[in-house]
Amino acid sequence: MAWRQESPRRGARSTLALAAMQRNFLANGSGLCPYVGQNLHGPEQMMSANSPLRSVLPPDIRARKGSEPLVVLTAYTTPMARLVDPHCDVALVGDSLGMVLHGLPSTLGVTMEMMILHGQAVVRGCSKAMVVIDMPFGSYEESPAQAYRNAARLMAETGAPAVKLEGGAHMADTIAFLTRRGVPVMAHIGLTPQAVNTLGGYKVVGREDEAERVMQDALAVQAAGAFAVVLEKVPMGLAGRITAALDIPTIGIGAGAACDGQVLVIDDMLGLFTDFRPKFVKRYAELGKAADAAIAAYAAEVRTRAFPAEEHAFPDVLPVKGPK
Ligand code: KIV
Repeated sequence: MAWRQESPRRGARSTLALAAMQRNFLANGSGLCPYVGQNLHGPEQMMSANSPLRSVLPPDIRARKGSEPLVVLTAYTTPMARLVDPHCDVALVGDSLGMVLHGLPSTLGVTMEMMILHGQAVVRGCSKAMVVIDMPFGSYEESPAQAYRNAARLMAETGAPAVKLEGGAHMADTIAFLTRRGVPVMAHIGLTPQAVNTLGGYKVVGREDEAERVMQDALAVQAAGAFAVVLEKVPMGLAGRITAALDIPTIGIGAGAACDGQVLVIDDMLGLFTDFRPKFVKRYAELGKAADAAIAAYAAEVRTRAFPAEEHAFPDVLPVKGPK
């Protein structure tokens, strides 16, 4: 039975009141959702809120520490999620979507609404991989209560079972607040792109004097209850020491092979995002180039009337079928 059906919120309401709420919600497609006890807006959100309990959950990911490496890729749309799902343990709806899909100069302009819309699309495309959704800049830093409100909204409106947020020791209270209240948190330390302006660029974090602080960040997010931690652009020796020191899995991006898993931005590894290419990205395909060639061929054929051919058009009169 799905957890939503066992929820105490629901149990507290009378059967008749619930039936009325359900009728109202299903008829209008919005309003106070009888399944999650929150105001949702439209059938899209209702579907997400009712998605069945996922097969892979944060404790399963945590339990993978020290065994087969965790495979993580970002995904932002249903078609991409369908491609990622059979091969990956986690599909991350990263706020990198602001840069790779929406053409923003950094992740700072990403909103809750963008994360929810893309989160819903990815949840629809995944049946095996666990979906984790990034908390966007400004949605969690102010206070643990603000973080809880927005994390609960991300989970309720998309059906994803976990969120990711950036920050180490200074976010430990918030991570503890969330995890004690049913919000599984994947932490993200080292280079935290939402802090690009205070860090002074997308630089490696954790060399020399900085190493001990990054180690303390890792220990702090683990103690706060994070089920896994992303290490971004952390020198490989330090990433190895952090991985050995922690009981939770480390997921590296530009952090070397010693981590318990790896994550890449899908548009980077498929060669779809070509504005710049970080050193840690390996291109497994050149889909951008393939798409460019296909679009150029289409444009040439339209201009020469080679497309559409007769087989792509419809006859005015259907051919008469003869006797068999
Ligand atoms: O936003 C993102 O895609 C990320 C990954 C690169 C870890 O945070």
